[in-house]
Amino acid sequence: MRTLESPYMNWAKLESGARFNLATSGVPNVLMRDFPFEREDLELTYGVYGYEPLIDALAARSGVESANVVLAFGTSMANHLALAALLAPGDEVLIEKPVYELIVSAARYLGARVEFFERRHEDAYRLDAAAIEGKITDKTKLVVLTNLHNPSSVAADEETLRAIGALAARRGARVLVDEVYLETMFDAAPPSSFHLGENFVVTSSLTKTYGLSGLRCGWILADPATAEKMNRLNDLFAAGNVHVAERLSLVALKNLDLFRERARRLLDANRPLVNDFLDSRADLDAVRPQYGTTVFPRLLKPDAEGFFRLLREKYETTVVPGRFFDAPDHFRLGLTCDTATLRAGLERLGAALDEIG
Ligand SMILES: Cc1ncc(COP(=O)(O)O)c(C=O)c1O
Repeated sequence: MRTLESPYMNWAKLESGARFNLATSGVPNVLMRDFPFEREDLELTYGVYGYEPLIDALAARSGVESANVVLAFGTSMANHLALAALLAPGDEVLIEKPVYELIVSAARYLGARVEFFERRHEDAYRLDAAAIEGKITDKTKLVVLTNLHNPSSVAADEETLRAIGALAARRGARVLVDEVYLETMFDAAPPSSFHLGENFVVTSSLTKTYGLSGLRCGWILADPATAEKMNRLNDLFAAGNVHVAERLSLVALKNLDLFRERARRLLDANRPLVNDFLDSRADLDAVRPQYGTTVFPRLLKPDAEGFFRLLREKYETTVVPGRFFDAPDHFRLGLTCDTATLRAGLERLGAALDEIG
């Protein structure tokens, strides 16, 4: 079935807003007044396939050649472009589950046939090469996963990623890894999985960790021929970039330590609050990720949808309902709102849980 919309994105844009919004996964947006730039840093128009200094800076940061880098509007467009370049209508794509819904919707929009492999709650959402081995076929053109995993924020280890790369390579398939949350590992972040094998393609952006969603600075890492294909394909979509945003993105990269420290401070303050809250609740079963911006508890009480309604209507608090991840008895809880709001939102979450008995 061809998909022509994203139920999750529509919900996130129109319905997730609340006084205590615990549904977000990105660090709060940086305000222009806190963004260090000079007028001379900016220019309105430039070039054809992206601003080379920005491409070069992203390549240097990722330890790749500039020919490996394709610019895109956020990880959203990076994923779309990557899927569009790697899949033809009717091709089979094997995607993790629970999954960030946009990946599935974009693949279906492109006419791909979607199959799933499981990341199980009981296994702490560990990425399991055997689960992929059990599902991959000669028809599989692409395996898709997120690292860190959205919604659980669980990190994959290098050995497993290499094993998945080898499994895919044996079938002539590629592996697409969405690494938008990898940056939230800060100094502990491993090199991009792009380096783990020739069949890896990676997407990421500055949007989530650095509070820079508005710049839409996203990118794809791919072998030069695939990168070229994506750039040519992008002629059909966006044609070009917003050059002011490219310039500001370069400024952002030069000042990334500033934005990184801001994010680190927030997450360091918020993670213990969420862990203490989870420790205090026998009615939630949650994997505790060491890094990332979200957790994905299972609600051990019936009527999750009724609970989300009560939480929103009486307690003015939102979380992401698990139905968007095909896991309706779960919810995604974000760690990224300001600490006072998180503290108050968690109290409300607890009160709503108590109320449903
Ligand atoms: C796994 C994943 N990929 C991509 C995106 C979109 O990122 P961007 O804002 O960079 O387009 C999100 C946003 O929530 C996400 O969770």
